[in-house]
Amino acid sequence: MKIGVVGTGHVGLVSCATFAALGHDVVGIDNDQEKIDKLRNGQSPFFEPGLDELVAKGTASGHLIFSTEMADAVKDSEVVFICVGTPPKASGEANLAAVEAAARDVAKHANQRLVVVEKSTVPAGTSNRLQTTLKRQRPDLQLEVASNPEFLREGKGVEDSMSPERILVGADSDFAFDVLRRVYEPLTAKGHLLLETDITTAEISKHACNAFLSMKISFANALARLCEASGGDVVKVTEVMGTDKRIGPQFLNAGIGYGGYCFPKDLQAFERLAQSLGYEFPLLREVANINDEAVAAAAKKVEDVLWNLDGKRVALFGLAFKPATDDVRLSPALALARLLLDKGAVIVGYDPQAGPNAKAEMPELEVVEDPFDAATGAHCVVITTEWPEIADLDLPRLKQVMAEPVIVDGRNVFDPSQMAGTGFTYIPTGRPPVVP
Ligand code: UGA
Repeated sequence: MKIGVVGTGHVGLVSCATFAALGHDVVGIDNDQEKIDKLRNGQSPFFEPGLDELVAKGTASGHLIFSTEMADAVKDSEVVFICVGTPPKASGEANLAAVEAAARDVAKHANQRLVVVEKSTVPAGTSNRLQTTLKRQRPDLQLEVASNPEFLREGKGVEDSMSPERILVGADSDFAFDVLRRVYEPLTAKGHLLLETDITTAEISKHACNAFLSMKISFANALARLCEASGGDVVKVTEVMGTDKRIGPQFLNAGIGYGGYCFPKDLQAFERLAQSLGYEFPLLREVANINDEAVAAAAKKVEDVLWNLDGKRVALFGLAFKPATDDVRLSPALALARLLLDKGAVIVGYDPQAGPNAKAEMPELEVVEDPFDAATGAHCVVITTEWPEIADLDLPRLKQVMAEPVIVDGRNVFDPSQMAGTGFTYIPTGRPPVVP
């Protein structure tokens, strides 16, 4: 099939590479010339394990090409996926201007019956707007909207896309279902699950999944506060909870909270959507509040253990919003850096991948490339992202270079039993601290 993909961000580019790997002829377009130039030279504009190789394979096979021209993506295509950004407005509502502009441009260049697929996360009801827009612009053609929300995780994008737990297709016509079934036939033939719903149900399902996962994390973080106050151990509590199959063990890790460009903004957009439909959904607001509190709680721990923060040197281990990505958008590590900077601390950050992005986002941050450089002279190390290289650190060497041996573990990378006897003051999240 010939497939067009509009937007080459995390979702768009991984989709391009996956569709090409499935044997389709894919044209990925973006209005950012620099990005397209990079892609044409075989370079991914962001770090995503395995993506460079998959893109290179696609371009080498001739199945994948990149362009800045919408016409290239739309002409003779049976289906075009819209994967452009939906940033939050000041109100928290999703800004859908780029989605509309992309759809208009698709309509302008369409030359045959075509399915226009929302792959970016959009609020329920967007498809109606899109359908009206397409119809008004091209009454001469049958342009049909469908929804195919993406469930990939950053850092595991290629794995999630090539081997999805489920594929969700929302459509209103046999034609659209048929086109999308054929897109994913190579995956369904291997046994991957394809769920079919109406469009609004698909749109709501995507928001529901992200909101529910955020809620699990906030539940664990609320328990962490309770354990800190009572002397319990949140890691054990969530282990117990996780053995109940109805709850499951995943996304119950307490820490400094969730970040990234999906959970925080999707939760807000879902809340605004609910309000616009006349239902408050206050649970969603509380999930976000608990998440903010998780960062504030870590800042308070640093302040409690160091007393006056003014002039104290604090090393942050991890700047990305999670491991295996260089993405720092809405990273809890940077939110924590902001709180500590505002209290006068000197912050030096280390991250295996995200250093340059963090520096660009927060220029007042000192960023170094080696964890021991970050820790040298520090009064406290805060573990903010659970990169595997941080768990493997040489602790005696760390202790030697620090001004004072204090670790605040915002991701529970270490175990208190492992820290006992090391000479570190170790303050985990939701677990009893170790004080020599
Ligand atoms: C998330 C979803 O997991 C994907 O299914 C979805 O497709 C994607 O959003 C999206 O809507 O595009 P992602 O943002 O890449 O994916 O990252 P996650 O792995 O879900 O982690 C989100 C945040 O939660 C990270 O900051 C992570 O550190 C935090 N987290 C995760 C916790 O604090 N505790 C946990 O137990 C799990």
